[in-house]
Amino acid sequence: MFDTDNAKNTMTQTDIKFSAKNVQVFYGENHAIKDVNVELEDKTVTAFIGPSGCGKSTFLRCLNRMNDTIDICKVKGDILLDGEDIYDKRVDPVQLRAKVGMVFQKPNPFPKSIYDNVAYGPRIHGLARSKAELDEIVEKSLRGAAIWNEVKDRLDAPGTGLSGGQQQRLCIARAIATKPEVLLMDEPCSALDPIATAQVEELIDDLRKDFSVVIVTHSMQQAARVSQKTAFFHLGNLVEFGETPQIFTNPEDERTESYITGRIG
Ligand SMILES: Nc1ncnc2c1ncn2[C@@H]1O[C@H](COP(=O)(O)OP(=O)(O)O)[C@@H](O)[C@H]1O
Ligand SMILES: [Mg+2]
Repeated sequence: MFDTDNAKNTMTQTDIKFSAKNVQVFYGENHAIKDVNVELEDKTVTAFIGPSGCGKSTFLRCLNRMNDTIDICKVKGDILLDGEDIYDKRVDPVQLRAKVGMVFQKPNPFPKSIYDNVAYGPRIHGLARSKAELDEIVEKSLRGAAIWNEVKDRLDAPGTGLSGGQQQRLCIARAIATKPEVLLMDEPCSALDPIATAQVEELIDDLRKDFSVVIVTHSMQQAARVSQKTAFFHLGNLVEFGETPQIFTNPEDERTESYITGRIG
């Protein structure tokens, strides 16, 4: 018999990747995130926008427990990934970060070869059983990050010798090599020139086919170009969350409107 309740549950489970409930973050006395509730969808690019210091990076780091590495930082509330609490003490943050990869503002390749940068994650997580399998993961990841053709003849060269835009795509290849389910990107284009930015933006749109992508950006144009959903943060509050075109053309909250029209920020 067809069970409609079950069908509905299955649908929400596949559609929602992250569910954040009453999330608060403190750095000592500084209340940086105030009661954020939001659901982030699978196979979707979600942009976090808002003035500098409003908590975008802090909230992004909650999603793969990167804030654990900051001593004075305390996270409260619940964050569920596929319905499972990522702050449960049985969750290994290293495993979590393989599932929820991260790309930073400044490209940060390891001082290793291009090949070893990408092979690093699969090696420590034991994802390849042979050299041939590892080669395949490296190639696939570099192709996935749209940089294979530029580096295939110099995989032994140092990753740090590439141009800024290439380094950022190498870092994306490194992040996707562990087959994550979500990719977090914190202003991934802010150190790149317009051509490299366009390449990375195009790549983000491709990545959405396989992952859920969350991108912090200070560029509203970029948010409008790459995302389907937008979250506007202001002073630690998630003020408004919705379809990107709606947020940019018909925001509900006057703080969002002030920001997108350039009156705050
Ligand atoms: N590592 C940190 N240690 C202490 N305070 C921090 C740290 N990172 C961010 N903050 C504080 O948290 C607030 C939000 O910052 P952040 O998340 O970096 O904002 P955004 O990414 O929107 O610019 C700010 O008040 C900032 O000073
Ligand atoms: Mg930031």
